[in-house]
Amino acid sequence: MSRLVNKWINGDCLKVLKKMPDKCVDLIITSPPYHNLRVYSNDPCDLSNCESYEEYYYLLGLVITECERVLKDGGKFVMQYEDYNYTLGRDNKMGQESLTGDIDKLFKDNNMSLWTKAFWRKYSAQRAMLAQGNLYYRNMKARDTILAANVGFVYVYKKSGDCELIKASDITLEEWANWADGVWNISNTGIGHTTPFAEELVKRCVKLWSCPNDTILDPFAGAGTVNKVAIECGRNAIGIELNKEFYDLANEKRFSLWEDSVFDSSDSIEKMKERFNEQLNLGKEQSENAKKDKQEQKELIDKKKVLQKQIKEMELQLKVLGLKAKEIKSIKDNVSEGENDD
Ligand SMILES: C[S@@+](CC[C@H](N)C(=O)[O-])C[C@H]1O[C@@H](n2cnc3c(N)ncnc32)[C@H](O)[C@@H]1O
Repeated sequence: MSRLVNKWINGDCLKVLKKMPDKCVDLIITSPPYHNLRVYSNDPCDLSNCESYEEYYYLLGLVITECERVLKDGGKFVMQYEDYNYTLGRDNKMGQESLTGDIDKLFKDNNMSLWTKAFWRKYSAQRAMLAQGNLYYRNMKARDTILAANVGFVYVYKKSGDCELIKASDITLEEWANWADGVWNISNTGIGHTTPFAEELVKRCVKLWSCPNDTILDPFAGAGTVNKVAIECGRNAIGIELNKEFYDLANEKRFSLWEDSVFDSSDSIEKMKERFNEQLNLGKEQSENAKKDKQEQKELIDKKKVLQKQIKEMELQLKVLGLKAKEIKSIKDNVSEGENDD
């Protein structure tokens, strides 16, 4: 039995990351602040509070450089963000702000490559309309139509080098059947924070790209969703959040509610492999049963065809014996009534 550790740190992630040793985390999951959307605080270290686009990407680049350093070789960095529609009045712009190219460049500059990605459908277009008046039908402008920006991105980058190759997974067959799809339909119901992660989204990332007892980092941790889910999935967690209000919120609404036993972990990579093998056997059993069912169905259909042929031949013989179609039908009806009586 080992004890999991939940490190919950109030501070500027750049300063905190600089104090962490090289290659000490297995997975990073985060959603960064943006340069011109929401301002979380007046703190000069707050990335949402930058003077310019250039300053923002410069600082975000420094954070990614530090994250790459603390990540183990071959480890994954899940970057969750979204392109967003400008609303009237914001920087006098209309249309959409796209982060993809700039963020992708920062990862490439830090020798990390795109590994895989998912699209997160967070809510319906109808819900987006409530926040964005220009989506209402009555506000449409024929040549200027804008669609709802209700989809977030889950970009997964890989640090160069190799991690230990483990031919297993910590998810079930049923989960894989849903999660393998590149579009994740998950409604967002996080706590208190203005832009919270959905716990289900974090759970998928934790289980897909880490093992039991691994350590997971979120440098922009908000109300601590990554820490919560990581510990509850049997992983260690490190969360760094600048804003004291969000930091306290996580302590109060999440971590203080845990029983001490949540930190006890008897799980291991060996046990994960056992679970995986059980799922493999279940999969084999399911496909064998499906094959058997298919075979039985086929045999039934063949039998039916033979019987129909025999009936046709008997009808022909009855016709030859001079019976009329009506009489043959009445014989058939009597036979089926007799069957029903049985
Ligand atoms: C998009 S939110 C993250 C929300 C989080 N995923 C959750 O589930 O609650 C980004 C967070 O980054 C924080 N932040 C901004 N600059 C920071 C910095 N330099 N160091 C640490 N946190 C910072 C903001 O206060 C904000 O809470």
